[in-house]
Amino acid sequence: MVIKILVENTSASEALGSEHGLSLYIEAQHHKLLFDTGASALFAENARKMQIDLSKVDLAVISHGHYDHGGGLKAFLDMNSNAKIYLNKMAFGDFYSNRPNGEKKYIGIDKSLLPNDRFVFVEGQVVIDEELELFSGIQGTRLNPSGNQDLFIKDGETFKLDDFSHEQNLIIKENGNTVLFAGCAHNGIVNILEHFHADRNSQPSHVIGGFHLYNRSTDQSENPSVIAEIGSYLLSTGAMFYTCHCTGVQAYERLKSIMGDHVNYLSTGSQLIISR
Ligand SMILES: [Fe+2]
Ligand SMILES: [Fe+2]
Repeated sequence: MVIKILVENTSASEALGSEHGLSLYIEAQHHKLLFDTGASALFAENARKMQIDLSKVDLAVISHGHYDHGGGLKAFLDMNSNAKIYLNKMAFGDFYSNRPNGEKKYIGIDKSLLPNDRFVFVEGQVVIDEELELFSGIQGTRLNPSGNQDLFIKDGETFKLDDFSHEQNLIIKENGNTVLFAGCAHNGIVNILEHFHADRNSQPSHVIGGFHLYNRSTDQSENPSVIAEIGSYLLSTGAMFYTCHCTGVQAYERLKSIMGDHVNYLSTGSQLIISR
């Protein structure tokens, strides 16, 4: 399996732009996939520079209903006429975040894209085929990201704390590896892994994505003692972790000091090959 980072918050190359967002291109045995689209059309511009033909993508997944993951959807629909796009059934909710000045800002996905028969709305455990699965419905609340307290869903005229039922994770099984993809892990990467373990009595071999240890509303990294607990748990799973985006560089460096070779950072333009 080859994973190429089309966009995230930092860039490994001057030729490739970066933004607050996430988009991964994945070539597995049976599929060419897009996991998230970043915040804008930048993922597509970078893909072109990286000589990746996104018209050949046969399936896309949007991890959750925030603009920094689904903001490039229109650009993708325009350049690819075939791929189905899997979203959680709650992904087009009215999501807001606190701005640094305390105002609430809309951070959902562009609703003018609805309806579209290429969208596949799902929930819970979904087996797409022998290679791909999706799951949502995480119940645990252990070591939840503290940044979630600045994220809301609008219900009528009131703002309720987001429960992240709109978030889903992707599993790709290939050559004996089980690779788990998380967008922002708003449900908490520890809870997501515990859910995975409760279902399968095993841990993934690799985990890739953002772990939401940076709060944009306050420009603060997660509490160091919480990061230390998360790092110890992640290390105990034996999986290999590749992180980026809303983990934040500061929290990543703390994780690295605990997890050593078991965690690495993926910048825009970097490539990861997972083989047996
Ligand atoms: Fe998010
Ligand atoms: Fe995000």
